[in-house]
Amino acid sequence: MLSKKQKFSSIGKKVLMALTGFFLMFFLLQHLSINLLSVVNADVFNKVSHFMGTNPVVQYVLQPVLIFSVVFHFAWGMVLEYQNNQARDVKYAKYKGNANATWMSRNMIISGLAVLAFLAIHFYDFWLPEINTKYIQGDMSGMKHGSDNFRYHEELVSKFAHQPIRVVLYIVAFMMLSLHLLHGFQSSFQTVGFNHSKYTPILKKLGNLFAIAVPLGFVIIAIYHYNSQPH
Ligand code: HEM
Repeated sequence: MLSKKQKFSSIGKKVLMALTGFFLMFFLLQHLSINLLSVVNADVFNKVSHFMGTNPVVQYVLQPVLIFSVVFHFAWGMVLEYQNNQARDVKYAKYKGNANATWMSRNMIISGLAVLAFLAIHFYDFWLPEINTKYIQGDMSGMKHGSDNFRYHEELVSKFAHQPIRVVLYIVAFMMLSLHLLHGFQSSFQTVGFNHSKYTPILKKLGNLFAIAVPLGFVIIAIYHYNSQPH
């Protein structure tokens, strides 16, 4: 039997996972919305990207919170997984992993690590060059060298256009993200104590929709630009 204090601290630890998870899901939605603009209208995508890339609130408030959430969610997830494994070895010698949980819920650490591996590649592709241009070279203009056209849309297209390996890698990562969200979305609401006979089933359906539609949106962007003409 867990003591009250142990129960509280284990729920407290999960709450921090849920809160950072909420923020990351909010980020995913805005990231998808902005990137979908790249498919619809290059000019609008360029303008919104420039605003997001130079606005001080986004750069110095939201971006540090985002980076903190990614690092925290990953590191804390590893700690909780380790502690759960320890507890399971000692207390539940007869634990049968597949008896009462879905594949997704038992393998959050695997899908999470796959998303993290994707983020490493993704940062190398997009984020580091952006930091380099803006904060190391000091060029905040958002313009292509020697021209008065924005560079964002062109840079994005050049990463995907006729680049089969990157497109396939990204699509595999989006599928892993989907598996992670299929459990993570509804689990985070459950952790913060949302439990209602009428609304919990609706929330589960909404969670499945989010977990499929958001990664699918990213897949569409990658495939669309695979077929784009590089500038
Ligand atoms: C086809 C899909 C995607 C495209 C085209 C894309 C594009 C981009 C671009 C252009 C940037 C640089 C933004 C900047 O710093 O100015 C960026 C940054 C970033 N992306 Fe993505 N992204 C995609 C999917 C994802 C997914 C699925 C995730 C999360 C699992 C993700 C997480 C991030 C993070 C954390 C950053 C750094 C924060 C930021 O600057 O906004 N991206 N992405």
